[in-house]
Amino acid sequence: MTRVFDDDLAQGFATRAIHAGQRPEPLAGAIMTPVYLTSTYVQDELGVNKGYEYARGKNPTRQALERNVAALEGGKHGFAFSSGMGCVDSLMKLFRAGDHIVCGENVYGGTYRLFDKILQHMGLSFTFVDTRDPQRIADACTPATRAILVETPTNPLMRITDLRAAAEIAHRHDALLIVDNTFASPFFQRPFEFGADIVYHSTTKYLNGHSDMIGGMAVLNDDALADRIQFIQNAAGAVQGPFDCWLALRGTKTLHLRMPRHDENGRAVAKFLVEQVGEEQVIYAGLESHPQHELAKKQMKGFGGMIALELGTKERANHLLSRVRVFALAESLGGVESLISHPASMTHASVEPDRRSALGITEGMVRLSCGVEDVADLLSDLEQALEGMPEHGAARARRETAGAA
Ligand SMILES: Cc1ncc(COP(=O)(O)O)c(C=O)c1O
Repeated sequence: MTRVFDDDLAQGFATRAIHAGQRPEPLAGAIMTPVYLTSTYVQDELGVNKGYEYARGKNPTRQALERNVAALEGGKHGFAFSSGMGCVDSLMKLFRAGDHIVCGENVYGGTYRLFDKILQHMGLSFTFVDTRDPQRIADACTPATRAILVETPTNPLMRITDLRAAAEIAHRHDALLIVDNTFASPFFQRPFEFGADIVYHSTTKYLNGHSDMIGGMAVLNDDALADRIQFIQNAAGAVQGPFDCWLALRGTKTLHLRMPRHDENGRAVAKFLVEQVGEEQVIYAGLESHPQHELAKKQMKGFGGMIALELGTKERANHLLSRVRVFALAESLGGVESLISHPASMTHASVEPDRRSALGITEGMVRLSCGVEDVADLLSDLEQALEGMPEHGAARARRETAGAA
């Protein structure tokens, strides 16, 4: 009897999430892929082995995760790395001194730091642009441009890049479109459908979903490019350990159950915050007031749980951050639990203050990662934490006046 372990038989997202890339373990038929805790593999004789020689090159647990996430993204090849940053760093090894990369100006602070503080000193050059405007991407391309790297939605400003337009520009310049799909996850956005060449993730976030490991994943379709990344993965060695792969593989099995709840809670929290502090203060791609809501609707199937909230000053931000009881003050995002953070001093502290404020990452901004708890508890937590904040009172007064009129 054929079971759905054959990836091509599993067409639906949920079935792929649960089965793709996995086979029953051959010794006892264990349904769950074991954690292959081994650094090396016994060879049958010189030059004859079971396809595995040394675990930096291949590990069956890692391969299961790589095939699983590749299937979820609709790609052919997956490569798991030690972290999201390890993944980006390895991808940059596709390029050589003298090559130029056009990068979104509001990428994760650590991505900017890697490019600005390390890789540009090794001969790669980067131009950071507002990728909301395709013309700016096109204008930044030079004959040396080899890649356009975008994050959409961005961290933390929730800016959207038109993926189809970015892919056209990249291909016109013989360059690759590389997309950080961490915020949307493949459940809500599949950049290959719009022409992306490489899609990558911090699997630390939604893919794993339980805030208990660090990992990165690159997915692509082109066989020749995949050979080069496999070479880099083995040669540079930023591979993901088998136990972290196993955790992530366990996480992806429920991605299709978690993401709708993150989305539902995100929408409810965004609506609630609009009522509390006003529409202009809440940045969420699912709000009609988001300037790129129509584009977001076109390329995303949902908006997830990430919200940025502009409270005006650090004191006001701290008022909220120090009073929440269900939301936890912590970096990271995408876990089942709700988190709240202060991008200027946390995730984007590595971006220079002038650059940060030019981008709009202010001292008064907080970022929420809405988890999958009961939404009523999230709303009452925020309500009690906002209590006593001057703007909160003013917003309520405005509402009461409007209600009375
Ligand atoms: C959008 C995005 N990309 C990449 C990364 C880096 O991933 P990691 O922390 O797994 O190295 C992060 C981390 O926060 C992120 O938010």
